[in-house]
Amino acid sequence: MKHLVIGCLMLGLVAAGCQKAEQQPPSTAAFPPLSSYDEQARALLEQMTLEEKIGQMIQAEQAFLQDPYDIQTYHLGSILSGGNSDPADGNSLEAWTEVYDSLQAIALRTRLGIPLLYGIDAVHGHSNVEGAVVFPHHIGLGATRDPDLVERVYRITAIEMRATGIHWNFAPCIAVARDERWGRTYESFSEDPELVATLGAAAVRGLQNGGLNNPLAVLATAKHFAGDGGTAFGTGGPQGALLDQGDVRLDEATFRRIHVRPYIDAIQAGVGSIMVSYSSWNGVKMTGHKYMLTDVLKGELGFEGIVISDYNAIDQVHPDYKTAIEIAINAGIDMAMVPTRYREFFQLLKELVEEGRVPMERIDDAVLRILRVKFAMGLMDGPEHVFADRSLWAKFGSAEHRAVAREAVRKSLVLLKNENQTLPLAKDLGRIHVAGLHADNLGYQAGGWTIDWQGGSGDITEGTTILEAIRKAVAPGTEVTYSEDGSGAAGADVAIAVIGERPYAEFLGDRSDLSLDPDDVAVVRRLKEAGVPVVVILISGRPMIINDVLEMADAFIAAWLPGSEGDGVADVLFGDYAPTGKLPFSWPRSMDQIPINVGDEDYDPLFPFGYGLTY
Ligand code: GLC
Repeated sequence: MKHLVIGCLMLGLVAAGCQKAEQQPPSTAAFPPLSSYDEQARALLEQMTLEEKIGQMIQAEQAFLQDPYDIQTYHLGSILSGGNSDPADGNSLEAWTEVYDSLQAIALRTRLGIPLLYGIDAVHGHSNVEGAVVFPHHIGLGATRDPDLVERVYRITAIEMRATGIHWNFAPCIAVARDERWGRTYESFSEDPELVATLGAAAVRGLQNGGLNNPLAVLATAKHFAGDGGTAFGTGGPQGALLDQGDVRLDEATFRRIHVRPYIDAIQAGVGSIMVSYSSWNGVKMTGHKYMLTDVLKGELGFEGIVISDYNAIDQVHPDYKTAIEIAINAGIDMAMVPTRYREFFQLLKELVEEGRVPMERIDDAVLRILRVKFAMGLMDGPEHVFADRSLWAKFGSAEHRAVAREAVRKSLVLLKNENQTLPLAKDLGRIHVAGLHADNLGYQAGGWTIDWQGGSGDITEGTTILEAIRKAVAPGTEVTYSEDGSGAAGADVAIAVIGERPYAEFLGDRSDLSLDPDDVAVVRRLKEAGVPVVVILISGRPMIINDVLEMADAFIAAWLPGSEGDGVADVLFGDYAPTGKLPFSWPRSMDQIPINVGDEDYDPLFPFGYGLTY
């Protein structure tokens, strides 16, 4: 019966989806407000002991569960898999689904049988899991300027997540990155808050797909509230970061206009959870910021869902952990992401309530919000709504999904230079010479948050490299040769250098210098010296300092971090589709100009916000 229901729903959704894509712009929030579930949530809340309430507020890390039955002992409300947290049995769709179902089975055998919320960072597809479709990172989606496409990308991401059972996505990141030296710039749609607001809301609609009770929808998380992308250079948090987790130094009006702005659209789109930023605002940690979390976010902006802390972020609020917990929970944190020390957290919060340092009303507000979401998602409607729907495995990594990712890649490419109509290339040239470390490396073209937190190199998952895509696209008689270092180009009709950044994530991507790698410059120079037209494709998580390479190039494409579908690059190289991407970030002439953002006085970038050529 369940499959029949899913089938009918799928047909309905597909029909609705097709119709929507053709006839009308994406809808705004179509779901009932979360507070409409309060009657059911309060009825359950009243049955709960203090221990059960506190347990609901704790999210532990799957890989660091000291005992899976801690879910019962500590009444855990949620589990996450962080960037490196894979199933013990490997990284397959099957292994992930087994882990999800086994942990839910334990939760269902607690006294009240309240299911877990299971969270993961599916920030560009369900990219922890081998074989998932890997979409362009947000900076590339920002270049598309296409909310409908973003909604479709995230609707597919939700389906591939549900294939493993996992139903809480710590996405979309709606950071407004204002200094590209920040390692998380590629997780931001743009430096422009209005563009971020539009695309962030589209992502929420895609993930929550017509309603949280839709078996193909997942809970979205707007993150990181607020100002994650606005920190001052040199104020970075722990691990010696330059910007990440640092301090935002802005007056309130500017802080709201730039960094709070996208949350208004996300809340209007019905986002069910919001993750709090590690960063500070004028010296006060957001995780302990009662004015911003309670007065502004929950009060003024009317957010009715779950406010979750970031990974061990509570530890940073105060040197004494118990005091840190007191400050964070009283500030308005509802769900604590406590990956390892969840047993200690449980005990300390219990003491804080018993000592009157955290009022029961605050605990009840937090648990009410968590239960609202669980009722809205249908998790309380019986086990068939909790366990994974394996019929969705057929759609996981499907050709249909990859086609949308390929479209996203095409639309994300920004053509910065095209002398003498070098592009598009003919498909029947005699010889095309391809060069550079990034030409045949799926891990490099996907970037961070892919299979592992920091990403990887080589064939880390399924997909098509740019070199493979070029080889597939050309006519049978055309020779495609390759060298990493650029040697062997002489005599070719054209040379293509694919160069750029190697994968990174979070603070490990903070850089004080965004110059290209000297080896990359040498590759382009070798091609130039071979006396052939040179096309440069830059794989990067942000604008870089490219002046000398730009000078040598006849054509230059910013490809960002395209993900698994390299065919989208070939589609534009050979003119099957013209480039339409527009810069979502200002492109600096030199490091001295950074930070540089549209709207600055004496704004004089190498390429302005919104720049992009076409054929
Ligand atoms: C990380 C990131 C956050 C992510 C969370 C769980 O530190 O800041 O974006 O969702 O931890 O992996």
